[in-house]
Amino acid sequence: MKKIILLAILSCGFISNAFAAGDATAGKAKAAACASCHGANGIGIADNFPNLAGQQADYIAKQLAAFKDGSRVDPLMAPMVAGLSSQDMADIAAYFSSFSRSGEAPAGSATSGDTPSAAAPVATAPSVVANAAAGKELYNNGDTARGITACVACHGDQGDSEVLINPNLSKQHPEYIEKQLNAFRDGSRIDPSMNTIAKHLSEQDVLDLGAYFKDPKAVASAPAPKKSAAKLTFIGDVEAGKAKAMVCASCHGADGNSLIAVYPKLAGQHEKYLAKQLADFKAATVNADEGRNDPVMGGMVATLSPTDMQDIAAYFASQKTSASNVATNATGEKLYNGGDASRGITACIACHGSEGKGAALAGFPTVNSQNLDYLKTQLNKFRDGSRHNDMNSMMTTIASKLTDDDIAAVAEYMSSLK
Ligand code: HEC
Ligand code: HEC
Ligand code: HEC
Ligand code: HEC
Repeated sequence: MKKIILLAILSCGFISNAFAAGDATAGKAKAAACASCHGANGIGIADNFPNLAGQQADYIAKQLAAFKDGSRVDPLMAPMVAGLSSQDMADIAAYFSSFSRSGEAPAGSATSGDTPSAAAPVATAPSVVANAAAGKELYNNGDTARGITACVACHGDQGDSEVLINPNLSKQHPEYIEKQLNAFRDGSRIDPSMNTIAKHLSEQDVLDLGAYFKDPKAVASAPAPKKSAAKLTFIGDVEAGKAKAMVCASCHGADGNSLIAVYPKLAGQHEKYLAKQLADFKAATVNADEGRNDPVMGGMVATLSPTDMQDIAAYFASQKTSASNVATNATGEKLYNGGDASRGITACIACHGSEGKGAALAGFPTVNSQNLDYLKTQLNKFRDGSRHNDMNSMMTTIASKLTDDDIAAVAEYMSSLK
């Protein structure tokens, strides 16, 4: 229910920091020129014309601006946007965004009434065999061995993104998805997150994912882990971990809630992330260019086996994080939720989540209630490269663009999140 309300709010575009507010009624008139390809209700009339119905308004506005400034290249779209002002873009985005993902207009809205129910797109028979269940599996779990981050972390449950700037992928034409993934892969469409992810995708993955997005709700049987289950069950042995973690208490606290600001809290951190950090600290003691370098922690993990690490990680993950008493920071909040497009800084929310809880499967750590000094130290270390154990350089790339003021502000905001 909470989710439904949240999605309803998001799709109405009420909370939108990054872009001008759009007027769906004005957008309807301005979108008339788009109907010949995208349908009057935002359902593309052919497989190569993306559905815009129910897409995030911020995302649509961002794409229109990108077509205009040439950072996203498409010969059909360039002339379409040449004459649009940013207000036009916001209005059109609000209009398409007001439909459901299947193209139904919300009752009593500016968009209901005479909207022609555009002919449903005719699905052409695929020439290669795509496996939607395999697509679902990859979507939800990624493939760490191949460096593929789980898509669900950014694009949301079943392709309905909860982050305004990340596109919804549900009910999209498979052909369009395939074309975009290939474009991200060969670099003809630029987005730092997507370029790194797509380069690890095989032809088969691309087909499978396209087949999955066509109708995520219909792809039932695949063994997707339940979100709640992932939270409550641990791979390691919590009790065994508790005993093994006694030596850590002097710095991290017995229950993982370190009271000393320079030491991180480990309580409530994701098990997978913790186990990775312990392995990374150990790797750096063997080869300083690998893993995560820290003289103190290197010594602590030297004698731990992989099983010890997993058990200790399970123990701390099972503990409850204590709230910090750091006050919120408005500048930090803006950067965290919106990033800064002009400086190429991805919004932290995309990976660390609206409440700072990260994403367990994707390996994105929790940052909420974390000790302030520790957060600042880590951002500085990512920035100067002395910490570089982040997959695909996700954090080092972002941190390299942060100023001292950014770091101070965003660290306060993260620490204040409950
Ligand atoms: C002649 C056909 C045509 C017309 C008319 C047209 N478009 Fe497009 N549009 C396309 C194609 C093709 C693409 C996919 C481009 C690509 O493959 O990257 C696209 C992509 C888009 C996207 C990106 C969608 C996504 O999911 O990233 C948006 C937004 C969009 N169009 C909006 C509009 C708007 C608004 C108008 C009217 C002002 C319009 N289009 C008119 C053909 C058209
Ligand atoms: C770290 C966050 C993140 C992850 C993880 C991620 N994406 Fe994306 N994705 C984005 C963002 C941001 C965009 C929009 C890029 C832009 O603004 O042009 C995007 C765009 C896309 C698009 C283009 C949508 C459109 O309407 O044009 C597709 C398709 C896509 N992603 C598929 C995937 C798949 C498949 C995976 C997993 C294998 C994945 N993404 C993982 C952030 C992510
Ligand atoms: C003498 C103090 C001290 C002791 C004892 C100690 N640690 Fe640490 N720990 C640190 C410091 C300092 C850091 C931050 C290192 C950095 O800046 O990268 C840290 C970082 C960590 C991290 C990374 C947390 C994150 O959010 O990325 C983990 C996990 C961790 N310690 C686990 C342990 C475990 C398990 C033990 C016991 C086996 C232990 N520590 C014992 C001082 C200590
Ligand atoms: C594309 C995904 C992504 C984005 C966007 C992102 N992060 Fe991260 N972040 C990660 C990953 C992955 C790690 C953990 C790397 C590792 O050690 O495996 C991380 C780690 C961190 C840590 C260290 C946590 C700890 O316990 O040691 C901090 C602090 C952090 N990020 C802050 C930020 C801030 C601030 C922003 C926005 C300016 C941001 N992140 C944006 C993926 C992301």
